[in-house]
Amino acid sequence: MSEKTKHAGVMGWPVDHSRSPALHSFWLHAHGIDGDYVRLPVEPANLETALRVLPSRGFAGCNLTVPHKEAAMEIVDHVSDEGRRIGAVNTVFVQPDGRLHATNTDAYGFITNLRAGAPNTDFRKAPALVLGAGGAARAVCVALQDAGVPEIRLANRTLERAAYLARTLGKSIRAVRWEDRAEIEAQLDNVGLLVNTTTLGMKNQPALEIDLARLPASAVVNDIVYAPLETELLKNARAHGLACVDGLGMLLYQAQFGFEGWFGVKPEVTAALRDHVLKAG
Ligand code: ATR
Repeated sequence: MSEKTKHAGVMGWPVDHSRSPALHSFWLHAHGIDGDYVRLPVEPANLETALRVLPSRGFAGCNLTVPHKEAAMEIVDHVSDEGRRIGAVNTVFVQPDGRLHATNTDAYGFITNLRAGAPNTDFRKAPALVLGAGGAARAVCVALQDAGVPEIRLANRTLERAAYLARTLGKSIRAVRWEDRAEIEAQLDNVGLLVNTTTLGMKNQPALEIDLARLPASAVVNDIVYAPLETELLKNARAHGLACVDGLGMLLYQAQFGFEGWFGVKPEVTAALRDHVLKAG
């Protein structure tokens, strides 16, 4: 390490669980870059100070994770249009003059992973059903709108959160009631894409139980949960012969943009990277 060593990291509280250090370290090593990527445990009360000292500590920028993604928007000097639409930022770039620019790369990560996993599907042809209305769902909806999906049906346990997304993101989104499982299943008719953004199906969480019988045979099912990689939803979808996309790629692709900005090389998402990050978990 020298004065020229470029630093980046992930700021969160807690931040122990993050797989980003394994991911970025793999790319740094693969490209022989003089840099590192570290965990930055930062309490919410210290977020502003921690962000403001990045330039003087030789940091090219950082990722932000829970609980800092919204609060950082009020601190940094510039937020991209994408970050504003999503209402949260996950990547910060230190500018040559020390100013902090932030963006959100989750929508890019989501759509790039989806296109890589289902390369022959034209998502402009049919409505999508998105389950969940948290921060991840917001990035997914923005990505789907930009990809030209004609209609997004958004089902969430707390209907008001889905209605809020529909109000703030525009007309192509329609909130759907969650308690009535039959109604959700009815929404599967003529859908080209089903995405789970809820925490259901994650390790130590209940499974997502949904009857997929009404999904067209051409539909793609994407679970953004990646621990475990093969969720009950994906097993169920495979049993119906549907095309499946798992959630790990969203994490890997969203990281490309930050790495390129900090270290000057666009890294690739490969099978070796997937294996490495899975083992790190
Ligand atoms: P993130 O920012 O990662 O999307 P989040 O904002 O905590 O995380 O959102 C979690 C999502 O999972 C929400 O849509 C949540 O539903 P509510 O808005 O009603 O809280 C959904 N979720 C979590 N546990 C759930 C459960 N047991 N049943 C149904 N939905 C659940």
